[in-house]
Amino acid sequence: MTQTFTSKDNIPDHQEFLQDVIAGLSAPQKTLPYKYFYDEKGSQLFDQICELEEYYLTRTEQHILQERGAEMGEWIGPHALLFEPGAGSSVKVETLFPHLHTPAAYVPVDISREHLLASTERLQKRFPHIPIVPVVADYSSPFSTPSLEQTPNRIVVFYPGSTIGNFPPEEAVSFLKRLSNFVGPGGGLLIGFDVKKDKARLEAAYNDKKGVTAAFHMNLLERINRELRANIELTQFAHHAPFNEDKSRIEMHLVSRCPQKVSIAGRTFSFEEGETIFTECSYKHTPEKLAAIAEKAGFVRDVFWTDQEELFGVMALSIPNE
Ligand code: AVI
Repeated sequence: MTQTFTSKDNIPDHQEFLQDVIAGLSAPQKTLPYKYFYDEKGSQLFDQICELEEYYLTRTEQHILQERGAEMGEWIGPHALLFEPGAGSSVKVETLFPHLHTPAAYVPVDISREHLLASTERLQKRFPHIPIVPVVADYSSPFSTPSLEQTPNRIVVFYPGSTIGNFPPEEAVSFLKRLSNFVGPGGGLLIGFDVKKDKARLEAAYNDKKGVTAAFHMNLLERINRELRANIELTQFAHHAPFNEDKSRIEMHLVSRCPQKVSIAGRTFSFEEGETIFTECSYKHTPEKLAAIAEKAGFVRDVFWTDQEELFGVMALSIPNE
């Protein structure tokens, strides 16, 4: 039976969700935090996005990990502790596991206990020699980790999936600073990111023909209805995700189709026709830009791997030894 370690007072609760929704919808540009996309239904829809023809990100990254996993294993080095924030079902790290050299441990961190338990059991069966220490926590805020039996040679954070693209650059620097403090001198970061490319390809990835991304996006409103005593009329909102060339980011908006009022936990919010709720940014970086962001956080670029079309990148960075 797998044991999980749960970081105390770290998982956002119902009250925090309500406060975030009220604060977001009270601002002049209405916003809602994208972290609330991922309830049970949202996580399933996101898995479907990853399978879409237009959403090249997941399969391209997986291809890079498959092709270059041995080199990544060399770079990680022997007796490392591999730490993965937001590990989900740990599918990507599984590709790296055969290439790890006597790893000290793998520590997946995820907000969903169910995901963690299922993936730990699956991985532990396939790789019984790798100690796996799952931690239930929201990694976007500070959390505690259990003490480990062995002292590793180095700590390496594995952060695939282009999740770094969902942080505005200043927040990406702060987040990577937290990681650099965590891994310490000699530690490393293996990070996946979506590379900047033409607008048409990017917009297709976030506006798929089957409407899965739209359903994923609308689920946020459905979730508010389900959990916060709200009466949002879903057909009166539309998914909109253009690429902003100047800011080099996809911007996800929920657009009100008409003038309307919605009630959430007894409060009323008014919308004009065409008014939007800004939910998520997905920044698209060049390798140079990503390295510059990581360098501001104290990392030094070691290796960059990409696919033939340079659609996606995986970069290895380290904190120099003192
Ligand atoms: C999780 N993250 C990297 C996804 C992205 O591509 O920015 C979230 C997403 N939003 C819409 N489609 C996918």
